[in-house]
Amino acid sequence: MSVDLPLSVVVLAAGQGTRMKSALPKVLHCIAGRPLVEHVITDALELGAADIHIVFGHGGGQVQQALSGYDLNWVEQMEQLGTGHAVEQALPAIPDDHLVLLLYGDVPLITVHTLQRLVAATAGNALALLTAKLADPTGYGRIVRDTAGKVQCIVEQKDANKEQLGIDEINTGMLAVKADMLKKWVARLDNNNAQGEYYLTDIVGFAVTDDVVINTAKPDEICEIEGVNNKRQLAELERAFQLRQARQLMDDGLTLRDPARFDVRGELIIGRDVEIDINVLIEGQVELADGVRVGPNVVLKNVSIGADTQIHANCILEESVVGTQCDIGPFARLRPQANLADKVKVGNFVEIKKSNIARGSKINHLSYVGDTTMGSGVNVGAGTITCNYDGANKHQTVIGDNVFIGSGTQLIAPVVVADGATIGAGSTITRDTLAGTLTLSRVEQVSVKGWKRPRKTEET
Ligand code: UD1
Ligand code: CA
Repeated sequence: MSVDLPLSVVVLAAGQGTRMKSALPKVLHCIAGRPLVEHVITDALELGAADIHIVFGHGGGQVQQALSGYDLNWVEQMEQLGTGHAVEQALPAIPDDHLVLLLYGDVPLITVHTLQRLVAATAGNALALLTAKLADPTGYGRIVRDTAGKVQCIVEQKDANKEQLGIDEINTGMLAVKADMLKKWVARLDNNNAQGEYYLTDIVGFAVTDDVVINTAKPDEICEIEGVNNKRQLAELERAFQLRQARQLMDDGLTLRDPARFDVRGELIIGRDVEIDINVLIEGQVELADGVRVGPNVVLKNVSIGADTQIHANCILEESVVGTQCDIGPFARLRPQANLADKVKVGNFVEIKKSNIARGSKINHLSYVGDTTMGSGVNVGAGTITCNYDGANKHQTVIGDNVFIGSGTQLIAPVVVADGATIGAGSTITRDTLAGTLTLSRVEQVSVKGWKRPRKTEET
């Protein structure tokens, strides 16, 4: 049975997060490069939420700024008087006929798949709780059931008796229920308990009194319900999230040498037969076409790599487009707008920035190419530098097709090296060259006969 009510998602994010020992509000710490709370918001959007209410407290301004790109309803909870009080702040903005789904800004790994099951468990106007069985339930609220297995109440760790402490089914805190019912129950909450807080969990007892059916749903993995309270938990959930992404990519056909040494902070789109070696970091939007092979220790950020291109060890590629059958690195750096056509070779200690390199050109060793348009079939000798910056402005270098540039050349931009030109090694090229000619600028070589090497003087 599907639930077709409009969905209002409430995200609790008012906790201080003191144990993070950070100036940054807890929910803005990142997993896979995105704030914890953003993971939860994107889940809510994927679920088709009609509106998302963020209950904030400490550091609200910073959180609002970080999430300014989303359409969110911000609800301030002035004092943290408990989860029931927190939810209460959001309720006036939620229509009675909506389904409310309660999530937590510091529980980032919850999946849309699990939440769909939780929402489905509200069928027939039931209260749906997300619960889990834990080997060590310490600290969590326990799910108390009667002998028939019906949920009776949730008892917090601090309020539980010995028998209740032995229950291994815990409350994750996530739940779904119709707004009118939630409003009615939240209005009845009090703070007569061990912590003097308005416990949202007390609504479960009210549901029982009101003869409302209580259903439970389970997460697929325990990491989905785990919260972040300190830097250790942040790191643990980062690994869990990365492993989840890695497994998905392997299911999609990616050959990954070691999923434990692979990070995606963004989105990776792969073709067939893509191979990635160890310690590779993917950031932003990255596309690897069929047959791309990525060596160890490579960083790829917002790049698109064409089919059958090989990227060797220790390369950093950023905001660039690389064609098919290229050969990059080891130790190459492509900075923003380095666009390589097909069959281009970029070797070790080569930096390319804001340049177009046409088909089959080779820049194999120790070069800087910036603000350059390079034709096809060019061979750039070792140690060639485009001198693009005069200290105030950047200037263009244009290199035609089939140019041969000797090693150790400086091209002082703006300058044009015409098609088929050859530049002698060690030249400093300051003026445009003619097509098909040899151009060189070299200080004449001299040999000084009878010259003696200086000798080290005796110390007195
Ligand atoms: C709560 C549940 C408990 C459950 C556990 C799961 C209650 C009474 N207890 O306990 O059954 O097992 O979560 O982790 O709900 N928050 C606010 N404003 C507040 C209080 C809390 O926004 O006034 C937010 C916190 O930022 C946090 C979340 O709600 O993200 C949970 O609050 P916390 O105080 O940690 O609840 P627990 O005592 O862990
Ligand atoms: Ca807690």
